[in-house]
Amino acid sequence: MDRSPFPHHGPLRPEQVTGRESLAVDLAQRIADRRLTALVGPRRFGKTSLLKRVAADLAAVGPQPVWIDLYQLTSMADFAAAVDRGLASVVGPVRRALDSIAATVALRIGVLGVELTRSPKYRPDPVLSLRNLLGVLTSAAQRHDLFVVFDEFSGVANIQGGAGVLRTELQHHFQSLGIVFAGSEPSTMRALFSEQTQPFFAQADLVEIGPLSDAAVGHIVEDGFETTQRHTGGITSRIVAFAAGHPQRAMQLADALWRRVEPGETADMPAWEAALAEVRTNVNAASERIFSLLPTGQQKTLRAIAAGGSIYGAAASALELPPGSAQDAAEKLIGNGIVRRAQERLEVIDPLLADWLCRRFPI
Ligand SMILES: Nc1ncnc2c1ncn2[C@@H]1O[C@H](COP(=O)(O)OP(=O)(O)O)[C@@H](O)[C@H]1O
Ligand SMILES: [Mg+2]
Repeated sequence: MDRSPFPHHGPLRPEQVTGRESLAVDLAQRIADRRLTALVGPRRFGKTSLLKRVAADLAAVGPQPVWIDLYQLTSMADFAAAVDRGLASVVGPVRRALDSIAATVALRIGVLGVELTRSPKYRPDPVLSLRNLLGVLTSAAQRHDLFVVFDEFSGVANIQGGAGVLRTELQHHFQSLGIVFAGSEPSTMRALFSEQTQPFFAQADLVEIGPLSDAAVGHIVEDGFETTQRHTGGITSRIVAFAAGHPQRAMQLADALWRRVEPGETADMPAWEAALAEVRTNVNAASERIFSLLPTGQQKTLRAIAAGGSIYGAAASALELPPGSAQDAAEKLIGNGIVRRAQERLEVIDPLLADWLCRRFPI
């Protein structure tokens, strides 16, 4: 059986990333220019995929990436272990440089992560370890053209003093080491770079990753069917309309349709309806959970937004929410990455959550 051309779990392989050409060029240039950049956008919009692509493109011509994933850090020890894992995943001459520099401060890259998971009594001091690891990284950047990606950077906000240590260790190396931060939680990311009390205040340009264009989604769907000897039979427009530019949802829908079409055959409406039903079934529980964890004011506001309604005036009073509270709830939903402002409208970012809301709460 063929492999689906529409993977939708986790990041894509670099060669699978399309439809992000100008953003890729911009990011590569920023890294080359040593401009600190924070790539911000909703979950599953392709930040990791795109940066992996940029990293692969750059690595082919010179600058080598060090990838540090800060997903769900809860302690300074986690942070240090994440940096250790990042350095340990580097190969080739850069790795040899990292190892030899580490040896001069009696560190062994790749081992520290394990040592840090020991009970506090037996483990090295996490802050000291983190400083040493970052020191190894910045020293290696004197000898090699390096850049570092801090993926899921909002994780750092959970750690008291975490961003401060990072800033202290890196700030004298902004010229020699390319740095990109990526993160999904808009309010946390914005706070990390735009609040005066934060160590990285005004240190990085925020670059947004938006939805894919309809043309890009259409091209991805058509191309995936074509290269696997299948035909979309005009169903592409359904996927484009439903996904509304959401990269992962577009791929998930395309995959569900694709699995219903044999090689040499053409998709049709019954196949699309079955594909949509399957995807809906798959996301029901997750949507329910997201919704149920929201406070009542945000639930009401989210329903109004999904219904395409305004949260002001008559709509707000139908919600039995004072306009101020609806406004406040909308800001929270934007900050959480559930809703975005698109032109002057508010929009639920995940089209399948919007769809679930409309099905679950018909008006
Ligand atoms: N350029 C793209 N083209 C098509 N699909 C994409 C693209 N970028 C991301 N995706 C889809 O989104 C999913 C999640 O991508 P990922 O890079 O993990 O997002 P993020 O890091 O923003 O959470 C991928 O598995 C893929 O299905
Ligand atoms: Mg990611």
